[in-house]
Amino acid sequence: MCGIIAYHGRRQAAPILVNGLRRLEYRGYDSAGLAIRGAAFDVRKRTGKVAELESSLPAKMPGTIGIAHTRWATHGGVTDENAHPHLGPEQRVAIVHNGIIENASRIRRHLERQGATFRSETDSEVIAHRLEQAVAKGQTPVDAMRTALKGLRGTWGICALFLDHDELVCARNGSPLVLGETEHGLIVTSDPQPLAEHTDRVIILEDGDIAAFGKGGLAIERLEGGQSGTSPITLEESWGEAELGDYPHYMLKEIYEQPDALRHCISGRLNAKTGNARLGGMHLTAKQLRKVPHVRLLGCGTALNAALIGQQLIERLARIPAVAHVSSEFRYQDPVVNPEALHFAVSQSGETMDTIAAIKEIQLKGGDVHGVVNVVGSTIARLCGQGVYMHSGPEQSVASTKAFSNMVAALTIFAMQIGRARQLSANEARVLAKGLQEVPDLIERYLADPGPIDDAVAMVLEAPSLLFLGRGLSANVAKEGALKVMELTYIPCLAYPAGEMKHGPIALLEEGRPVVVVAPDDAVKDKVASAIHECKARGARIILVCTEGDELAQEADVAIEVPRTHPLCSPLLTVLPLQLMAYRTALALDLDVDRPRNLAKSVTVE
Ligand code: F6R
Repeated sequence: MCGIIAYHGRRQAAPILVNGLRRLEYRGYDSAGLAIRGAAFDVRKRTGKVAELESSLPAKMPGTIGIAHTRWATHGGVTDENAHPHLGPEQRVAIVHNGIIENASRIRRHLERQGATFRSETDSEVIAHRLEQAVAKGQTPVDAMRTALKGLRGTWGICALFLDHDELVCARNGSPLVLGETEHGLIVTSDPQPLAEHTDRVIILEDGDIAAFGKGGLAIERLEGGQSGTSPITLEESWGEAELGDYPHYMLKEIYEQPDALRHCISGRLNAKTGNARLGGMHLTAKQLRKVPHVRLLGCGTALNAALIGQQLIERLARIPAVAHVSSEFRYQDPVVNPEALHFAVSQSGETMDTIAAIKEIQLKGGDVHGVVNVVGSTIARLCGQGVYMHSGPEQSVASTKAFSNMVAALTIFAMQIGRARQLSANEARVLAKGLQEVPDLIERYLADPGPIDDAVAMVLEAPSLLFLGRGLSANVAKEGALKVMELTYIPCLAYPAGEMKHGPIALLEEGRPVVVVAPDDAVKDKVASAIHECKARGARIILVCTEGDELAQEADVAIEVPRTHPLCSPLLTVLPLQLMAYRTALALDLDVDRPRNLAKSVTVE
């Protein structure tokens, strides 16, 4: 979603900002813009890609102070006017804003009654108006920010510049802002990625902080007054720039990075000799793990699908109830929270607002939450203060692939850890540990020759909609496959546990309709075989993902075989053909694989 980069220093701002905008592109956006402070603000903004903005810029945009933004539309359509930065009425203040001002319409009407006219339909522009009013009355930039934010409801990460003051002022409430002090000036970003090439020492603003940087250096205060409690941290895992290398798209690159990403996730956390597993960030003793009454997991989209797999693994290996929840629904169900229970928030970006809201609900009711997060120092990682980094490395493609695998792997390791503290036998754990450690090599082997994906794609391309079926762990792989194909190809996809098919989705079946079935060689395979027969009896054509050498392949119109693995590790193999199928179908449809329409990489609004 929206991204921010701001600079105040001794170097030319425009190249730093444009470079930063490029590094924010992966978040998903529909327009981009920047403002450079000189004798007036030089504002350039437009819909479309950062490259288009860049090529429309004049050869020189002199100035060492500037702000820039990638916008993902919430209030107001995708237009040049609605792109950020926004200026105050007299063009003496420029702002970029991430988040949503929920009461913007009321404030706008109030300002209009005072004679204000607005240039955009955005909620953000009211901030520029209020700021400018306040500085015009003689307030300092920081006090003006306080005044501008008074009575605003919603979320914000704001950077503001002032023509009459040599200061960059930032404020955070719910939308992250990260400050990096370099030897040539201050860089502010909405996530650590664009900062990585400049510094690994960063300050992450807390909600309610206001920061100001000018000639006197950096000062961070609280909105209500007093000093902020935030302090500099070192980013442990500097991702640097994720280059495409020889790959045509980030998604393909990330699919092929899965073996190494998994090795990083597993490394040092599993002992195949003893069968013991340990996630360092969990800080829970075996004694504590024995007392856990149940486990709850939270996530959205792909993270939810991984959590659903984690739920089954934990219940299976630790013999305690586990349940995965849709984060966006959680707090609205007025959930009963048992402070003794274990809660996991699963999130690649660590910035998903729905999951953050669910974490806060649990914490409010006395519960502890552990993060299963990819982005180090992200809001969820810091809010939870404990948990696991999944070490996938940067995931740039909007459609999540390698983060899914590492979420599943991290939750498998946790299931083993709690399982061993309870009643999982060393023998069973050793076999599973060995199985998990072999997975990266098996993925490499599969990806070297992924089978008849193009035959499956040819069937998918003809389909008005697709049904995905699976059972047990594979029911969630089917969900993940459906999500991937749907978000990349815009073909409506429905995923169902195979046994549920006859209770409704069977009505969709007709001559030639493709059905994607995920059926590795596990305890429920024969049951899935029955569903395949029911589909075929109604003329459906089967795209089957199965285990190498399985006779079930003969039942399929297209059978994609994946290497045999421990049945509990099967999602890590069976998801691969579905990721490739989604990727290649999108390519065949000439769609933007890395940036599907309307989607954002980190969903920072509710
Ligand atoms: C799908 C996808 C989304 C995310 C979801 C949660 O490919 O990427 O469904 O999984 O928005 O995002 P995170 O994991 O960042 O919380």
